[in-house]
Amino acid sequence: MSRKSSLIKNSEQIQAMRKACGISSQLHTLSMTGAVSGLSEKNLADKLVRFYDTTEAASWAYPMLVGSGKRTTIIHAQPTQKKMQSGELVLIDMGVKCNGFASDITRTWPVDKKFTREQKTIYQIVLNAQKEVIRAAKPGETLTGLHALSRELLLEGLLRHKIIGKDELNEVFPHKTSHWIGRLVHDACPYFNTDETAVKLEAGMVFTVEPGLYLKEGYGKYSHIGIRIEDVVLITEDGCEVISSVAKEIDEIEQLRAY
Ligand code: GLY
Ligand code: MN
Ligand code: MN
Repeated sequence: MSRKSSLIKNSEQIQAMRKACGISSQLHTLSMTGAVSGLSEKNLADKLVRFYDTTEAASWAYPMLVGSGKRTTIIHAQPTQKKMQSGELVLIDMGVKCNGFASDITRTWPVDKKFTREQKTIYQIVLNAQKEVIRAAKPGETLTGLHALSRELLLEGLLRHKIIGKDELNEVFPHKTSHWIGRLVHDACPYFNTDETAVKLEAGMVFTVEPGLYLKEGYGKYSHIGIRIEDVVLITEDGCEVISSVAKEIDEIEQLRAY
């Protein structure tokens, strides 16, 4: 198979990815609905496994990640017996596979019905970066360029609120904004051409957009807040389409949490 044939998905493959993203989106929406205070991360994961069993998903695309409270600042937190408590956030990174194709979606939401003021501040910085990157994603752009934009926006938001110094972004955003996705959640397609230039986006390419901020100790009232927002994006002839579909605006999430 040539490089391009796996980077550029055909209509059947895109349909499989839409289906995987659709089912995963439903699972995420379900996860946000209902009281969770006092339940463990594992209890929440089990609830999603029960719902997954009723869907047409063929398998999970990767082991589901569930982190709450300070565990949201661990990039890949496996669900544990830790109980979710009032005032905390929950970060779920989860996706299924359909007809051989993967999805990969992350949402972060409050255990309570509303985000705290500090959680909202960080959430809005991440959401703004995620939406701006999606707006910029179109044929001719590169994932390297989109990552640079994401970093610039995250840093600008953090500096505006005096949360970090100008050289500290790597500590709170230690991963890339995007990866190719297809048969594998991290599709093994190249990011650079043989002449070392970045691969330019073309219609039919599919990748994630997943900026995050992970504030561990030492950030004052913002300590222990971890937020990632991840969607799956398909490049079209003149822009892109987000093929995952889960609430991500603060007011939409708070409506879902208003059980
Ligand atoms: N689920 C792993 C990742 O977001 O890349
Ligand atoms: Mn991902
Ligand atoms: Mn993910």
